[in-house]
Amino acid sequence: MQNIEGLSANTQHFIALEEKYGAHNYHPLPVVLKKGEGVFMWDVDDKKYYDFLSGYSAINQGHCHPKIVAALVEQAQTLTLTSRAFYNNLLGEYEQFMQQYFGYDKLLPVNTGVEAVETALKISRKWGYINKDITENEARIIVCASNFHGRTISVVSYSSDPTATKDFGPFTPGFEAIPYNDLVALENALQDKNVCAFLFEPIQGEAGVVVPDEGYYKGIRSLCNKYNVLMVADEIQTGLCRTGTMLACDAEQVRPDVVILGKALSGGVLPASAVLADDAVMMNIKPGEHGSTYGGNPLACKVAMAALTVLKEENMAANAAAMGTLLRDELAKLNSPYISIIRGRGLLNAIVIKHHNPDAAWDLCMAMKENGLLAKPTHGDKIRFAPPLTITAAQVKEAVSIIGKSLEQLALLSK
Ligand SMILES: Cc1ncc(COP(=O)(O)O)c(C=O)c1O
Repeated sequence: MQNIEGLSANTQHFIALEEKYGAHNYHPLPVVLKKGEGVFMWDVDDKKYYDFLSGYSAINQGHCHPKIVAALVEQAQTLTLTSRAFYNNLLGEYEQFMQQYFGYDKLLPVNTGVEAVETALKISRKWGYINKDITENEARIIVCASNFHGRTISVVSYSSDPTATKDFGPFTPGFEAIPYNDLVALENALQDKNVCAFLFEPIQGEAGVVVPDEGYYKGIRSLCNKYNVLMVADEIQTGLCRTGTMLACDAEQVRPDVVILGKALSGGVLPASAVLADDAVMMNIKPGEHGSTYGGNPLACKVAMAALTVLKEENMAANAAAMGTLLRDELAKLNSPYISIIRGRGLLNAIVIKHHNPDAAWDLCMAMKENGLLAKPTHGDKIRFAPPLTITAAQVKEAVSIIGKSLEQLALLSK
């Protein structure tokens, strides 16, 4: 149960409803939101907050971006779903748009991020059986320790987080985890001829925004070329301008074989995810072998085109790069004894809290909430700072002053 002390009756009412009637599969901060606009959200008592989580990077374009909402509303009144039993007039246009936008021959549309990851795993295995001499049912995919790719049984099969795995077995075989940011381990793992793919996050978001060494992406590219293995980048959290470039791999001008997109692909208005690959990889999938009722629905196609257009029109990659640098500089200037590390790229950042109280990161998030900024701890002592990419310099400075004030209160809060 949430500790509901000190909350308004209104807030308590909504929390109590979720507690009573919803599964307890999340542990939210006790704030109930009812409205969002740009970098701000409002709670049910009309208190205004900076959003420093952005729906885990789904809201890159800012809350309720008018152009994305207009696309949603217009299409919602016209045609929302046909299923793939028939063609619709927007899927092909969207696929062509994506080809021109990202430069991959083909797109496979799905809904949630984890579904896109599953799709990429299936595409990779299929490619491996058809194009490499892989023994039947022996295809292997190399992944990284401390990864986060979602929560289906197959995807948690290679998680190193006990919360994700305990009591959920038996798991899907065929995955091997190696340390992140370790090209020697990768080369060792790729020796096996049954390996078809290497799946990785360009920056490990859920693990606490772990940024690999410069050269990691280039190193992966050349090893995957050398051993004829697919380089599969999960850009669900890092992609779409979040880290200061369109895709995080663009930072090293590296082109993965398979790119997985989600979250901000729809600017946070509905679930839309996708897998991108060239014909040599994607065309191994034949009719009936993969799909989803809502995948490629016209509503999502229209929304995704609007969401991606807005990213470029408003130069969000450049703004993310500039505001990210400012954010990290301003955080460093706070000189707080409670921050041991500030790290990130673009507007995907985290601080690591140093405090004798193991709940200090949670307490700090509670203090920031009181002071008008919403963020959430990840893995105990880390707090991600990932505001919408529309944030201005003045807003970054105001937000950091809220963080600074909250850090000062931490001394009193976390005894
Ligand atoms: C890197 C990465 N992959 C996959 C996922 C799963 O996406 P979804 O929650 O939409 O299934 C996430 C979600 O946080 C993610 O950050």
